Amino acid sequence: MHITFRQLQVFEAVARHLSYTRAAEELHLTQPAVSMQVKQLESSVGLPLFEQIGKKIYLTEAGEAMLGHARTINRHLAAAAEEMNDLKGVDSGRLKVAIASTVNYFATRLLAEFAHSHPAVEISLDVTNRETLLRRLDDNAPDLVLMGKPPTGLDLVAAPFMDNPLVMIAPPDHRFANGRNIPLCELAGETFVVREPGSGTRIAMERYFAEHGFEHTAGTELTGNEAIKQSVEAGLGLAVVSVHTVELELAVKRLIRLDVEGMPIMRRWYVGHRRGKRLSPTAQAFRQFVIEAGTRVSAAAV
Ligand code: PGA
Repeated sequence: MHITFRQLQVFEAVARHLSYTRAAEELHLTQPAVSMQVKQLESSVGLPLFEQIGKKIYLTEAGEAMLGHARTINRHLAAAAEEMNDLKGVDSGRLKVAIASTVNYFATRLLAEFAHSHPAVEISLDVTNRETLLRRLDDNAPDLVLMGKPPTGLDLVAAPFMDNPLVMIAPPDHRFANGRNIPLCELAGETFVVREPGSGTRIAMERYFAEHGFEHTAGTELTGNEAIKQSVEAGLGLAVVSVHTVELELAVKRLIRLDVEGMPIMRRWYVGHRRGKRLSPTAQAFRQFVIEAGTRVSAAAV
């Protein structure tokens, strides 16, 4: 069957009015154009759709059946047009964001602010470490990711949006609590609790230690920032974490920041997506929002 949407639309109008003349008026067509469309539809279907008795036309049984389908198709078309229209705006649709676990400390605030001004947007948030995040990107799962500097090999479009200083934390009674510009070599005897392999924070810490020729004694390895903070508080060792993860603990002095030479390790947070990705207007709006909000926060911290 070779049926066009136009034929269905014309047929539906004729069936509704049971009149070629009125259907032609409604569709701004001539009457012969209308009957031509109906004839073509009848020949594709292989059955008559109307019958004329006296001066009146009636739907045949096939016509009745076809009318039901034509209405369903028209309804679907209208719904599709409406949805496409919605997706052209920034106030609807779904937004899939994946973030490095460390970003979680401030990303939820950003998302809440965005959700507030875009209440109809359905947001899904996937929190994971850097390595898993890169795998998700490879599978084209998220629209956008918020993470530390992405590796150059991946075909990503990434923009920095906020500073991410990594600091060394210790319990408040640590022997170097009051030290100034402590040389890294002074910490040779210390034990360090470290994040799980695949963590961006851990990779940055190891790179910093290697650059300074510092060999650290690796203590417990823990997954996630919360576990790291708790073990440092409990005296299991020192750790390097993003300052965003310890704002509260530093404020209430449950942890302190050691003033070590060359620290903080200055990193930045990036908002990124796959190069070929067709970002929806909503995703574009979120990306812009993150860049602006991050720049504001970084400027305020100076
Ligand atoms: P992570 O995040 O340590 O939680 O992996 C930091 C990053 O992506 O660099």
